[in-house]
Amino acid sequence: MDSRRPHLDVGKASLRIGGVEAKSLAEKYGTPLYVTDVGRLAARFREAKSELSSRYGDALVAFAYKSNSTTPVVRTLARMGAGATVVSVAGVELARKAGVSPGDIVLDGPSKSKEELAAGIRAGVGMINAESVQEAMDVEALCRTLGSRGVRLGFRVNFGIRAETHAGLATGGREHKFGVARGEVVKFCRDWAPRFRFARVAGLHSHIGSQVSDADVFRRQTEEMVGLAEELEALGTDVREFNFGGGLGVPYRKEDPELAIGDYADATAGAFARSRWAGRARLVFELGRWVVADSTVLLTRVNYVKAAGKIRWALVDAGMNDFLRPALYGAHHEIVPAWTASAKRSAASYDVAGPVCESTDVFGRGRRLGVSLAQGDLLAILDVGAYGFSMSSTYNMRPLAAVATVEKRRSALASPRRL
Ligand code: LLP
Repeated sequence: MDSRRPHLDVGKASLRIGGVEAKSLAEKYGTPLYVTDVGRLAARFREAKSELSSRYGDALVAFAYKSNSTTPVVRTLARMGAGATVVSVAGVELARKAGVSPGDIVLDGPSKSKEELAAGIRAGVGMINAESVQEAMDVEALCRTLGSRGVRLGFRVNFGIRAETHAGLATGGREHKFGVARGEVVKFCRDWAPRFRFARVAGLHSHIGSQVSDADVFRRQTEEMVGLAEELEALGTDVREFNFGGGLGVPYRKEDPELAIGDYADATAGAFARSRWAGRARLVFELGRWVVADSTVLLTRVNYVKAAGKIRWALVDAGMNDFLRPALYGAHHEIVPAWTASAKRSAASYDVAGPVCESTDVFGRGRRLGVSLAQGDLLAILDVGAYGFSMSSTYNMRPLAAVATVEKRRSALASPRRL
């Protein structure tokens, strides 16, 4: 049993997910196969929701659909009271279909098209977070055309807070493409907001980066947002929603830093509850990774084992098109044997790679799996629930992987393998 991943039962050469044998799942649905443990997902969401709402009652977890938009995930979370953070027309539609009420949908994105803005306005989403002054103007103009009044507009503010994370995952620097500089938001609320007739500036939003585990970063973010709201109040803008973005990290390996959800809640909702704004606004948390990452594994079968100089390659049937994080960010994901024919103990280490014709199509190097591998064996790549299937593609004309769920020891196919 893995204490960090209580839904997984990692044996020497076998794996059970939510009580179901990986081997039987692979046989039933084929590989590569994403398997999501619905109970684990629900438990993580429940924990996030309860930690945040115990600090501040009016707190919405608006799950970041970009991290995982498979039907069972979004349906389960919607049923449990999650809102949705979306960045596209299809995202708005999916959230509605999943049963999220429009007021709990947040529309984000640094470069929204008019079509996307119109979809948000028509659906009556709770907040559209603008990332430029021009976009705010466009929202007002579109609302006028569509005859929509009372549309809530937020600003994603770039406070210039830098977070310790992979360069590809940081978004809060002053020169990043994200958000609007603080000074510009102030100017806008002074000069333009009073002239708006259809949209109303009602929100502040800040997302500093993803895979962040530093409580100070979140504390500063809270202070900055509250400070800015005070300044805007003096200009007649009433901030009713504070959106903390997402970004809370998870430890992909044992030694990774971890910020407990309770400490995150203290730094955000807890600090906010002690501010002058307490009771006057709703808080929104766009968590993705923390909620969904560890709920899911990717099962993949060994096609070939071969030596190349000192390297022993295990070539598997999942590729970078199925799971991109290692190739794109050099991200580390644990790999464990999910089933092996021989279960023969071995100290051998393997470089685990996929079938795509790119040398970056490698899931892990020098991995000691405890057993020796052979053709037909099964491996599991762990913690792939966030930015796994959602970032997959059909590169090399490979079909998308199948997605299955396990719940109460029963499995079901959520989507088949398809091109
Ligand atoms: N809100 C906004 C405005 C975002 O840009 C993101 C993620 C989130 C919320 C959710 O962040 P989370 O809680 O999941 O960290 N593909 C990368 C991650 C990209 C994150 C993009 N934005 C990865 O695989 O690590």
